[in-house]
Amino acid sequence: MKPVKVGICGLGTVGSGSFNILRENAEEITRRVGRSIEIEQVGARRDNPSADTSATNVTRNIFDVVNNPEIDIVIELIGGTTIAKELVLQAIENQKHVVTANKALIAEHGNEIFAKAQEKGVMVAFEAAVAGGIPIIKTVREGLSANKIDWLAGIINGTGNFIMTEMSDKGRAFDDVLKEAQALGYAEADPTFDVEGIDAAHKLTILASIAFGIPLQFDRVYTEGISQITEKDVSFSNQLGYSIKHLGIARRTAKGVELRVHPTLVSKKQLLANVNGVMNAVMVKGDAVGPTLTYGAGAGALATGSSVVADIIDVARTLTADPDNRVPHLAFQANALSDLEVLDIDEVECGFFLNMTIQDRAGVLANITQILSTNGISIESLIQQEKGVSDSVPLVVMTHTVAEKNMNAAIAKIEALPDVIGKIQRIRVEALI
Ligand code: HSE
Repeated sequence: MKPVKVGICGLGTVGSGSFNILRENAEEITRRVGRSIEIEQVGARRDNPSADTSATNVTRNIFDVVNNPEIDIVIELIGGTTIAKELVLQAIENQKHVVTANKALIAEHGNEIFAKAQEKGVMVAFEAAVAGGIPIIKTVREGLSANKIDWLAGIINGTGNFIMTEMSDKGRAFDDVLKEAQALGYAEADPTFDVEGIDAAHKLTILASIAFGIPLQFDRVYTEGISQITEKDVSFSNQLGYSIKHLGIARRTAKGVELRVHPTLVSKKQLLANVNGVMNAVMVKGDAVGPTLTYGAGAGALATGSSVVADIIDVARTLTADPDNRVPHLAFQANALSDLEVLDIDEVECGFFLNMTIQDRAGVLANITQILSTNGISIESLIQQEKGVSDSVPLVVMTHTVAEKNMNAAIAKIEALPDVIGKIQRIRVEALI
Protein backbone atom coordinates (compact mmCIF):
# COMPACT_ATOMS: atom_id res chain seq x y z
CA MET A 1 0.00 0.00 0.00
CA LYS A 2 1.20 3.51 -0.65
CA PRO A 3 2.65 5.40 2.33
CA VAL A 4 0.56 7.77 4.43
CA LYS A 5 2.07 11.24 4.22
CA VAL A 6 2.04 13.56 7.18
CA GLY A 7 3.03 17.20 7.60
CA ILE A 8 4.16 18.44 10.99
CA CYS A 9 3.40 22.06 11.93
CA GLY A 10 5.52 23.18 14.87
CA LEU A 11 8.88 21.78 15.94
CA GLY A 12 8.94 22.65 19.63
CA THR A 13 9.01 20.12 22.46
CA VAL A 14 6.12 17.97 21.23
CA GLY A 15 6.90 18.51 17.54
CA SER A 16 10.48 17.30 17.89
CA GLY A 17 9.39 14.39 20.10
CA SER A 18 6.79 13.27 17.53
CA PHE A 19 9.26 13.73 14.64
CA ASN A 20 11.86 11.58 16.40
CA ILE A 21 9.39 8.81 17.30
CA LEU A 22 8.14 8.62 13.70
CA ARG A 23 11.75 8.27 12.56
CA GLU A 24 13.08 5.95 15.27
CA ASN A 25 10.08 3.60 15.38
CA ALA A 26 9.28 3.68 11.65
CA GLU A 27 9.67 -0.06 11.19
CA GLU A 28 7.53 -0.95 14.21
CA ILE A 29 4.88 1.55 13.10
CA THR A 30 4.76 0.14 9.56
CA ARG A 31 4.27 -3.36 11.00
CA ARG A 32 1.31 -2.06 13.00
CA VAL A 33 -0.37 -0.01 10.27
CA GLY A 34 0.38 -2.20 7.26
CA ARG A 35 1.83 0.78 5.37
CA SER A 36 4.57 3.26 6.13
CA ILE A 37 4.04 6.75 7.52
CA GLU A 38 6.29 9.34 5.91
CA ILE A 39 7.03 12.87 7.05
CA GLU A 40 6.41 14.75 3.82
CA GLN A 41 7.04 18.24 5.19
CA VAL A 42 7.74 20.12 8.40
CA GLY A 43 6.55 23.69 8.94
CA ALA A 44 8.45 25.52 11.67
CA ARG A 45 9.57 29.06 12.31
CA ARG A 46 12.99 27.81 13.39
CA ASP A 47 15.02 24.58 13.56
CA ASN A 48 15.15 22.57 16.74
CA PRO A 49 18.51 20.93 17.52
CA SER A 50 16.58 18.00 19.07
CA ALA A 51 15.23 17.01 15.64
CA ASP A 52 17.52 16.32 12.69
CA THR A 53 15.54 17.69 9.76
CA SER A 54 18.51 17.79 7.36
CA ALA A 55 16.85 15.20 5.08
CA THR A 56 13.34 16.68 5.41
CA ASN A 57 11.46 19.26 3.38
CA VAL A 58 11.21 22.16 5.87
CA THR A 59 9.20 25.32 5.27
CA ARG A 60 9.03 28.44 7.42
CA ASN A 61 5.39 28.95 6.39
CA ILE A 62 3.17 26.46 8.20
CA PHE A 63 0.32 27.12 5.77
CA ASP A 64 2.48 25.49 3.04
CA VAL A 65 1.87 22.25 4.94
CA VAL A 66 -1.93 22.48 4.98
CA ASN A 67 -1.93 23.43 1.31
CA ASN A 68 0.49 20.68 0.29
CA PRO A 69 -1.54 18.30 -1.95
CA GLU A 70 0.71 15.34 -1.06
CA ILE A 71 -0.18 15.45 2.64
CA ASP A 72 -2.93 13.24 4.09
CA ILE A 73 -2.64 14.18 7.78
CA VAL A 74 -1.70 17.57 9.24
CA ILE A 75 -0.12 17.44 12.69
CA GLU A 76 -0.84 20.72 14.50
CA LEU A 77 1.74 21.29 17.25
CA ILE A 78 2.14 25.06 17.21
CA GLY A 79 -0.11 25.71 20.24
CA GLY A 80 -2.24 28.79 20.88
CA THR A 81 -5.76 29.33 19.63
CA THR A 82 -5.53 31.96 16.90
CA ILE A 83 -3.23 30.80 14.12
CA ALA A 84 -3.72 27.18 15.22
CA LYS A 85 -7.48 27.49 14.71
CA GLU A 86 -7.01 29.04 11.27
CA LEU A 87 -4.52 26.32 10.37
CA VAL A 88 -6.75 23.45 11.51
CA LEU A 89 -9.86 24.85 9.81
CA GLN A 90 -7.87 25.34 6.59
CA ALA A 91 -6.56 21.76 6.80
CA ILE A 92 -10.12 20.46 7.24
CA GLU A 93 -11.33 22.64 4.37
CA ASN A 94 -8.58 21.03 2.26
CA GLN A 95 -9.99 17.59 3.28
CA LYS A 96 -6.97 16.70 5.38
CA HIS A 97 -7.21 14.78 8.62
CA VAL A 98 -5.79 16.52 11.66
CA VAL A 99 -3.89 15.35 14.72
CA THR A 100 -3.37 17.93 17.44
CA ALA A 101 -1.96 18.18 20.97
CA ASN A 102 -3.67 21.53 21.48
CA LYS A 103 -6.00 21.34 24.51
CA ALA A 104 -6.83 25.06 24.49
CA LEU A 105 -7.88 24.84 20.85
CA ILE A 106 -10.08 21.77 21.40
CA ALA A 107 -11.57 22.98 24.71
CA GLU A 108 -12.40 26.45 23.38
CA HIS A 109 -13.13 25.82 19.69
CA GLY A 110 -13.66 22.07 19.47
CA ASN A 111 -17.42 22.28 18.91
CA GLU A 112 -16.88 24.34 15.75
CA ILE A 113 -13.87 22.32 14.59
CA PHE A 114 -15.64 18.97 14.98
CA ALA A 115 -18.74 20.23 13.18
CA LYS A 116 -16.60 21.28 10.23
CA ALA A 117 -14.63 18.01 10.32
CA GLN A 118 -17.86 16.05 10.24
CA GLU A 119 -19.15 18.08 7.32
CA LYS A 120 -15.94 17.41 5.39
CA GLY A 121 -15.70 13.74 6.43
CA VAL A 122 -12.28 14.03 8.06
CA MET A 123 -10.96 13.10 11.50
CA VAL A 124 -9.53 15.38 14.17
CA ALA A 125 -7.63 13.33 16.74
CA PHE A 126 -6.48 14.88 20.03
CA GLU A 127 -5.19 12.18 22.40
CA ALA A 128 -2.08 14.24 23.19
CA ALA A 129 -4.21 17.18 24.34
CA VAL A 130 -4.99 15.51 27.67
CA ALA A 131 -2.49 14.04 30.14
CA GLY A 132 0.48 13.83 27.73
CA GLY A 133 1.44 10.20 27.20
CA ILE A 134 -1.55 8.60 28.96
CA PRO A 135 -4.09 7.22 26.47
CA ILE A 136 -6.97 8.63 28.51
CA ILE A 137 -9.09 9.78 25.56
CA LYS A 138 -9.01 6.31 24.07
CA THR A 139 -9.66 4.76 27.49
CA VAL A 140 -12.79 6.80 28.17
CA ARG A 141 -14.06 7.05 24.61
CA GLU A 142 -13.52 3.44 23.59
CA GLY A 143 -12.33 1.24 26.47
CA LEU A 144 -15.12 2.37 28.82
CA SER A 145 -17.81 2.92 26.20
CA ALA A 146 -20.11 0.31 27.79
CA ASN A 147 -20.40 2.40 30.95
CA LYS A 148 -22.33 5.34 32.23
CA ILE A 149 -19.47 7.38 33.67
CA ASP A 150 -20.29 8.52 37.22
CA TRP A 151 -17.24 10.70 37.76
CA LEU A 152 -13.61 11.22 36.88
CA ALA A 153 -10.86 12.91 38.83
CA GLY A 154 -7.35 13.49 37.61
CA ILE A 155 -3.97 15.01 38.18
CA ILE A 156 -3.83 16.45 34.67
CA ASN A 157 -1.12 19.10 34.87
CA GLY A 158 2.42 17.78 35.14
CA THR A 159 3.99 21.15 35.96
CA GLY A 160 1.64 21.77 38.88
CA ASN A 161 2.15 18.27 40.23
CA PHE A 162 5.92 18.60 39.82
CA ILE A 163 5.86 21.88 41.77
CA MET A 164 3.64 20.53 44.58
CA THR A 165 5.78 17.38 44.90
CA GLU A 166 9.13 19.19 45.00
CA MET A 167 7.83 21.75 47.50
CA SER A 168 6.35 19.07 49.71
CA ASP A 169 9.21 16.51 49.55
CA LYS A 170 12.24 18.77 49.34
CA GLY A 171 11.03 22.09 50.73
CA ARG A 172 12.05 23.83 47.47
CA ALA A 173 10.80 27.32 46.61
CA PHE A 174 7.89 27.67 44.18
CA ASP A 175 9.75 29.87 41.63
CA ASP A 176 12.81 27.65 41.60
CA VAL A 177 10.76 24.51 40.79
CA LEU A 178 8.73 26.36 38.15
CA LYS A 179 11.96 27.41 36.38
CA GLU A 180 13.08 23.79 36.29
CA ALA A 181 9.69 22.68 34.87
CA GLN A 182 10.07 25.31 32.13
CA ALA A 183 13.61 24.16 31.31
CA LEU A 184 12.38 20.56 31.06
CA GLY A 185 9.69 21.61 28.56
CA TYR A 186 6.76 20.73 30.85
CA ALA A 187 5.32 24.20 31.40
CA GLU A 188 3.01 26.11 29.06
CA ALA A 189 4.32 29.17 27.18
CA ASP A 190 2.50 31.16 29.88
CA PRO A 191 3.15 29.13 33.05
CA THR A 192 0.27 30.78 34.90
CA PHE A 193 -1.87 28.44 32.76
CA ASP A 194 -0.30 25.55 34.70
CA VAL A 195 -0.24 27.13 38.14
CA GLU A 196 -3.68 28.74 38.04
CA GLY A 197 -5.39 25.63 36.67
CA ILE A 198 -6.32 26.95 33.21
CA ASP A 199 -4.41 24.16 31.46
CA ALA A 200 -6.12 21.57 33.69
CA ALA A 201 -9.50 23.22 32.99
CA HIS A 202 -8.89 22.85 29.24
CA LYS A 203 -8.17 19.15 29.72
CA LEU A 204 -11.11 18.64 32.10
CA THR A 205 -13.45 20.25 29.56
CA ILE A 206 -12.43 17.64 27.01
CA LEU A 207 -12.62 14.70 29.43
CA ALA A 208 -16.07 15.72 30.69
CA SER A 209 -17.42 15.95 27.15
CA ILE A 210 -16.30 12.47 26.18
CA ALA A 211 -17.35 11.03 29.55
CA PHE A 212 -20.88 12.47 29.65
CA GLY A 213 -21.57 13.25 25.99
CA ILE A 214 -21.98 16.98 26.58
CA PRO A 215 -20.71 19.82 24.36
CA LEU A 216 -17.33 21.34 25.24
CA GLN A 217 -17.97 24.07 27.83
CA PHE A 218 -14.63 25.49 28.98
CA ASP A 219 -16.24 28.68 30.27
CA ARG A 220 -18.34 26.66 32.76
CA VAL A 221 -15.35 25.08 34.58
CA TYR A 222 -14.74 26.40 38.10
CA THR A 223 -10.97 26.98 38.31
CA GLU A 224 -8.73 27.61 41.30
CA GLY A 225 -4.90 27.43 41.24
CA ILE A 226 -2.22 26.19 43.63
CA SER A 227 -0.37 29.44 44.28
CA GLN A 228 -2.17 30.07 47.59
CA ILE A 229 -1.21 26.70 49.15
CA THR A 230 1.18 27.17 52.06
CA GLU A 231 3.74 24.88 53.71
CA LYS A 232 1.47 24.83 56.76
CA ASP A 233 -1.47 23.52 54.68
CA VAL A 234 0.80 20.75 53.38
CA SER A 235 2.08 19.83 56.81
CA PHE A 236 -1.35 19.83 58.54
CA SER A 237 -2.79 17.76 55.70
CA ASN A 238 0.05 15.28 56.17
CA GLN A 239 -0.71 15.03 59.88
CA LEU A 240 -4.31 14.23 59.03
CA GLY A 241 -3.26 11.52 56.53
CA TYR A 242 -3.91 13.52 53.33
CA SER A 243 -1.91 14.85 50.38
CA ILE A 244 -2.86 18.05 48.60
CA LYS A 245 -3.26 17.45 44.86
CA HIS A 246 -4.41 19.82 42.13
CA LEU A 247 -7.34 17.85 40.73
CA GLY A 248 -9.68 18.24 37.81
CA ILE A 249 -13.02 16.71 38.78
CA ALA A 250 -16.10 16.02 36.64
CA ARG A 251 -19.07 14.38 38.33
CA ARG A 252 -22.58 13.57 37.19
CA THR A 253 -25.11 14.25 39.94
CA ALA A 254 -28.90 14.19 40.08
CA LYS A 255 -28.87 18.00 39.66
CA GLY A 256 -26.35 18.25 36.80
CA VAL A 257 -22.64 18.03 36.08
CA GLU A 258 -19.87 19.35 38.31
CA LEU A 259 -16.82 20.68 36.46
CA ARG A 260 -14.08 21.94 38.75
CA VAL A 261 -10.31 22.31 39.07
CA HIS A 262 -8.92 23.12 42.51
CA PRO A 263 -6.41 22.00 45.13
CA THR A 264 -7.89 18.98 46.88
CA LEU A 265 -7.09 16.91 49.94
CA VAL A 266 -6.87 13.24 48.95
CA SER A 267 -6.40 10.46 51.51
CA LYS A 268 -2.88 9.00 51.34
CA LYS A 269 -4.55 5.59 51.10
CA GLN A 270 -5.72 6.53 47.58
CA LEU A 271 -3.35 5.70 44.70
CA LEU A 272 -3.98 9.21 43.34
CA ALA A 273 -2.38 10.74 46.44
CA ASN A 274 0.84 8.95 45.54
CA VAL A 275 1.15 10.26 41.99
CA ASN A 276 4.18 12.52 42.14
CA GLY A 277 6.48 14.66 40.02
CA VAL A 278 5.46 15.30 36.43
CA MET A 279 3.33 12.16 36.41
CA ASN A 280 -0.40 12.43 35.68
CA ALA A 281 -3.14 9.99 36.61
CA VAL A 282 -6.86 9.91 35.94
CA MET A 283 -9.42 7.93 37.94
CA VAL A 284 -12.60 7.15 36.07
CA LYS A 285 -15.58 5.56 37.78
CA GLY A 286 -17.93 3.74 35.43
CA ASP A 287 -21.18 2.19 36.61
CA ALA A 288 -20.25 -1.23 35.25
CA VAL A 289 -16.48 -1.35 35.60
CA GLY A 290 -16.17 0.51 38.94
CA PRO A 291 -13.11 2.69 39.58
CA THR A 292 -10.20 2.60 37.11
CA LEU A 293 -6.87 4.42 37.16
CA THR A 294 -4.51 5.30 34.34
CA TYR A 295 -1.06 6.68 35.11
CA GLY A 296 1.86 8.04 33.12
CA ALA A 297 3.97 11.03 32.14
CA GLY A 298 1.72 14.04 31.61
CA ALA A 299 4.20 16.19 29.71
CA GLY A 300 7.50 16.03 27.87
CA ALA A 301 8.65 15.54 24.27
CA LEU A 302 8.57 11.76 23.91
CA ALA A 303 5.65 11.08 26.28
CA THR A 304 3.36 13.54 24.49
CA GLY A 305 4.85 12.52 21.13
CA SER A 306 3.78 8.96 21.97
CA SER A 307 0.13 10.08 21.99
CA VAL A 308 0.55 12.17 18.82
CA VAL A 309 2.01 9.23 16.93
CA ALA A 310 -0.64 6.83 18.29
CA ASP A 311 -3.26 9.19 16.86
CA ILE A 312 -1.46 9.29 13.50
CA ILE A 313 -1.52 5.49 13.47
CA ASP A 314 -5.24 5.44 14.36
CA VAL A 315 -6.07 7.92 11.61
CA ALA A 316 -3.88 6.07 9.09
CA ARG A 317 -5.70 2.80 9.86
CA THR A 318 -9.12 4.28 9.22
CA LEU A 319 -8.32 6.49 6.21
CA THR A 320 -10.35 4.29 3.94
CA ALA A 321 -13.19 3.58 6.41
CA ASP A 322 -16.69 4.96 6.04
CA PRO A 323 -16.72 8.26 8.03
CA ASP A 324 -20.06 7.27 9.63
CA ASN A 325 -18.43 4.23 11.21
CA ARG A 326 -15.57 6.07 12.89
CA VAL A 327 -15.49 6.70 16.63
CA PRO A 328 -17.26 10.07 17.13
CA HIS A 329 -14.99 12.96 18.15
CA LEU A 330 -16.74 13.42 21.50
CA ALA A 331 -17.46 9.70 22.02
CA PHE A 332 -21.22 10.13 21.46
CA GLN A 333 -22.87 10.75 18.10
CA ALA A 334 -22.81 14.48 17.33
CA ASN A 335 -26.61 14.64 17.14
CA ALA A 336 -26.96 12.82 20.48
CA LEU A 337 -25.08 15.17 22.79
CA SER A 338 -26.88 15.84 26.05
CA ASP A 339 -27.86 19.24 27.48
CA LEU A 340 -27.07 18.23 31.09
CA GLU A 341 -26.68 21.42 33.08
CA VAL A 342 -23.23 22.36 34.44
CA LEU A 343 -23.67 23.27 38.11
CA ASP A 344 -22.39 26.43 39.77
CA ILE A 345 -19.66 25.79 42.34
CA ASP A 346 -22.11 26.89 45.07
CA GLU A 347 -24.11 23.72 44.40
CA VAL A 348 -21.15 21.36 44.74
CA GLU A 349 -20.96 19.15 47.83
CA CYS A 350 -17.69 17.95 49.36
CA GLY A 351 -15.71 17.88 52.60
CA PHE A 352 -13.55 20.85 53.64
CA PHE A 353 -10.20 21.41 55.32
CA LEU A 354 -10.20 24.75 57.15
CA ASN A 355 -6.92 26.22 58.33
CA MET A 356 -7.27 29.32 60.52
CA THR A 357 -5.46 31.28 63.18
CA ILE A 358 -7.31 32.03 66.42
CA GLN A 359 -6.68 33.77 69.72
CA ASP A 360 -6.31 31.03 72.29
CA ARG A 361 -9.12 32.14 74.62
CA ALA A 362 -11.86 30.24 76.43
CA GLY A 363 -14.95 29.77 74.27
CA VAL A 364 -13.40 30.37 70.80
CA LEU A 365 -13.63 26.75 69.78
CA ALA A 366 -17.21 26.53 71.09
CA ASN A 367 -18.19 29.58 69.00
CA ILE A 368 -16.65 28.09 65.87
CA THR A 369 -18.22 24.65 66.30
CA GLN A 370 -21.56 26.32 67.06
CA ILE A 371 -21.46 28.22 63.73
CA LEU A 372 -20.54 25.05 61.85
CA SER A 373 -23.35 23.12 63.48
CA THR A 374 -25.93 25.88 62.82
CA ASN A 375 -25.02 25.62 59.13
CA GLY A 376 -25.47 21.85 59.15
CA ILE A 377 -21.73 21.13 59.03
CA SER A 378 -20.40 18.17 60.94
CA ILE A 379 -16.74 18.00 62.03
CA GLU A 380 -14.69 14.95 61.09
CA SER A 381 -11.40 15.83 62.81
CA LEU A 382 -9.64 18.76 64.35
CA ILE A 383 -6.07 19.82 65.22
CA GLN A 384 -5.46 22.59 67.72
CA GLN A 385 -1.80 23.23 68.44
CA GLU A 386 -0.54 24.14 71.89
CA LYS A 387 0.01 27.81 72.57
CA GLY A 388 3.56 29.04 71.90
CA VAL A 389 5.00 32.40 72.85
CA SER A 390 2.20 34.28 71.14
CA ASP A 391 -1.51 34.08 72.03
CA SER A 392 -2.50 33.07 68.52
CA VAL A 393 -2.59 29.42 67.53
CA PRO A 394 -3.44 27.55 64.37
CA LEU A 395 -6.69 25.60 64.30
CA VAL A 396 -7.42 23.06 61.58
CA VAL A 397 -10.89 21.60 61.09
CA MET A 398 -11.88 18.84 58.65
CA THR A 399 -15.58 18.61 57.91
CA HIS A 400 -17.88 15.97 56.51
CA THR A 401 -19.58 16.60 53.16
CA VAL A 402 -21.47 19.89 52.91
CA ALA A 403 -22.80 22.12 50.14
CA GLU A 404 -20.31 24.84 49.17
CA LYS A 405 -22.88 27.59 49.80
CA ASN A 406 -23.38 26.41 53.43
CA MET A 407 -19.64 26.36 53.94
CA ASN A 408 -19.31 29.88 52.51
CA ALA A 409 -21.97 31.14 54.91
CA ALA A 410 -20.23 29.48 57.89
CA ILE A 411 -16.78 30.78 56.88
CA ALA A 412 -18.08 34.37 56.63
CA LYS A 413 -19.51 34.11 60.17
CA ILE A 414 -16.38 32.47 61.62
CA GLU A 415 -14.11 35.09 60.03
CA ALA A 416 -16.26 37.79 61.69
CA LEU A 417 -15.56 36.40 65.19
CA PRO A 418 -13.24 38.75 67.10
CA ASP A 419 -10.94 35.89 68.09
CA VAL A 420 -10.40 34.63 64.55
CA ILE A 421 -7.38 36.33 62.92
CA GLY A 422 -7.37 37.04 59.18
CA LYS A 423 -8.81 34.87 56.43
CA ILE A 424 -9.53 31.18 56.67
CA GLN A 425 -7.70 28.94 54.22
CA ARG A 426 -10.24 26.50 52.82
CA ILE A 427 -9.32 23.45 50.71
CA ARG A 428 -11.86 20.94 49.41
CA VAL A 429 -11.60 17.27 50.36
CA GLU A 430 -12.61 14.42 48.02
CA ALA A 431 -13.27 10.85 49.10
CA LEU A 432 -13.14 9.60 45.46
CA ILE A 433 -15.70 6.86 45.96
N1 HSE B 1 1.97 22.25 30.68
C1 HSE B 1 1.35 20.98 30.59
C2 HSE B 1 1.61 20.21 31.87
C3 HSE B 1 1.91 20.24 29.41
O1 HSE B 1 2.48 20.61 32.63
O2 HSE B 1 0.93 19.23 32.12
C4 HSE B 1 1.11 19.05 29.01
O3 HSE B 1 -0.18 19.39 28.65
